[in-house]
Amino acid sequence: MNPVSSRPLSWLLSYLRPHLARFFLLVGVLIGLTGLELSLPYLIKEGIDRSVVPALKGTLTPGAALHQLGLLGAVYVSLLLLIFGLNYLLFYQLQWIGQHIMARIRRDLLHHLLSLPVPFLDSQPIGRLVTRATNDVAALNELYATIAPVVFKDVLLILGISGILLSMNVRLFLVLVVLVPALATLSYLFQKEVRQAYLDVRKHLARLNAFVQEHLSGLEVLQAFRAEPHSFQQFQDINRDLYQAYHRQIALFSLFRPTISFFPTLATALILWVGGGEVLRQALTFGALVAFLDYVKKLFTPIQDLAEKFNIYQSAIAASQRLHALMRVTPERVGGRRPEPFHGRITFDHVWFAYEEERWVLQDISFTLEPGQVIALVGPTGTGKSTLVSLLLGFRTPQRGEILVDGIPLRELDLSWWRSQIGWVSQESLLFEEDWTRNITLFSSFSEKEIQDLIHQLDLHILDQEGLASGEKQMLSLARVFLFRRRILILDEATSHMDSLTEARLDRALDTLFQGRTGLIIAHRLSTLKRADRILVMDRGRIVESGTHESLLQQNGLYAMYCRLHFGRIAV
Ligand SMILES: Nc1ncnc2c1ncn2[C@@H]1O[C@H](COP(=O)(O)OP(=O)(O)OP(=O)(O)O)[C@@H](O)[C@H]1O
Ligand SMILES: [Mg+2]
Repeated sequence: MNPVSSRPLSWLLSYLRPHLARFFLLVGVLIGLTGLELSLPYLIKEGIDRSVVPALKGTLTPGAALHQLGLLGAVYVSLLLLIFGLNYLLFYQLQWIGQHIMARIRRDLLHHLLSLPVPFLDSQPIGRLVTRATNDVAALNELYATIAPVVFKDVLLILGISGILLSMNVRLFLVLVVLVPALATLSYLFQKEVRQAYLDVRKHLARLNAFVQEHLSGLEVLQAFRAEPHSFQQFQDINRDLYQAYHRQIALFSLFRPTISFFPTLATALILWVGGGEVLRQALTFGALVAFLDYVKKLFTPIQDLAEKFNIYQSAIAASQRLHALMRVTPERVGGRRPEPFHGRITFDHVWFAYEEERWVLQDISFTLEPGQVIALVGPTGTGKSTLVSLLLGFRTPQRGEILVDGIPLRELDLSWWRSQIGWVSQESLLFEEDWTRNITLFSSFSEKEIQDLIHQLDLHILDQEGLASGEKQMLSLARVFLFRRRILILDEATSHMDSLTEARLDRALDTLFQGRTGLIIAHRLSTLKRADRILVMDRGRIVESGTHESLLQQNGLYAMYCRLHFGRIAV
């Protein structure tokens, strides 16, 4: 991956560097191409002044004139063919470079996104990051493959044509000096408005897409609560906004298209008038007037082009700045210490944590999980159990206190190594749009036998179907930790969506799994709680009770009350 330079421009150029030789070659082709295009009207001038006019005046025989014109025509067609070939080469090669760079930026971007610390994603809507990876990268392609070369060529054309026109006739050139800046300004303003209108359309379109997708996915809830009319009302607003945005775009086009095309027509009329006079005064040849008209036509396209490209250029620069800023976000740290030998003793030493400043979610948490021991965490919703797990996995860092692994602070530990010691079942079953085997193996390769054993052990055959029940999704998440056989297990409500019977069937498998392993389990089921060597009871971010199931019942505190509510007196 390219090291990300601190300046957006040098970062952009770093992607161009491998293509520099080819790029400069193409710049050479571009200069040649511009020269060829400029020579075409000149050929017409030559044809008229050296063959047609002398033949009309009688200073050249019609036969000789025709012969000369034939030759000139052949040269003209050959040049056109050459221009065609060079244009093809140029377009293809520039786009090739652009696409190549885009693929590399996307690769680096995704590599970088995957290495970002989890809290970064809290502050960024995922949708926005997706836009970075798609739209903003595409905008950069414009910069490399279209804007830079087109602008270069246009500037060359404008300079070349201006020079030729000036050398042909000063008066006619002055006509253009008045018209061209007016056209350039008008085009620029027009393009600016059009671009804004275009962005508005895109914004409203994206809103509409998101709305339709969300409301169709939630169709069952909408229908069940009879909320479709309200949903539809909301849609009407979004739809109206989109309609108005399109309307504004069309209105702009309808006004400015004819205005812009008025300029070349006006120029032609003026040149015909002033130029005709010049021909009559014999200050200009007839061929030169025809060539002049041709050059003027060629002049207006690049001017409009430049105005348009300038606006695109501005948004491409904005896109590149956004991408660059994203690329500069510090990734999660790599490397660090590893305890040797590794036992797996985990200590929370007066740990405090808040997602937002001073709103403590965890307060003064202290406990030690000995190797081979299993600790269960219980406590009301929102009390910070999953947060504690997130801290233990190193996704988030406590503001106060320390988490230690075999005496080494977690903040100094090699995180990638540490996580490879842990088998974690998250509270929400996170599944990918893949078949269930890949969802369990998480794209790593396991032997066919290992997978077959797992299927047998957990009876996974039921999952051979489209669409999964939430309990079945949990089963897949749980299956991962069976397959990965890590030394430390963290189960966050891993079986909460399963019925007691299914869970009971899993009991034996879970017993085998926990044998000789260290475990932290968050659960509300009695069977799971009984498996724990120690139970920590949490309330509002604090550990309020700690002990075995029996000792906690004897204490007759929060845990005892909790058990009475959950399992009734009989179970207790
Ligand atoms: N990403 C986050 N940003 C800000 N606050 C958060 C975030 N995640 C959780 N919280 C808050 O932290 C508190 C603890 O949440 P946590 O998910 O750890 O609770 P929990 O004990 O696991 O609850 P449950 O039993 O419902 O799973 C809650 O008040 C929650 O709103
Ligand atoms: Mg939780």
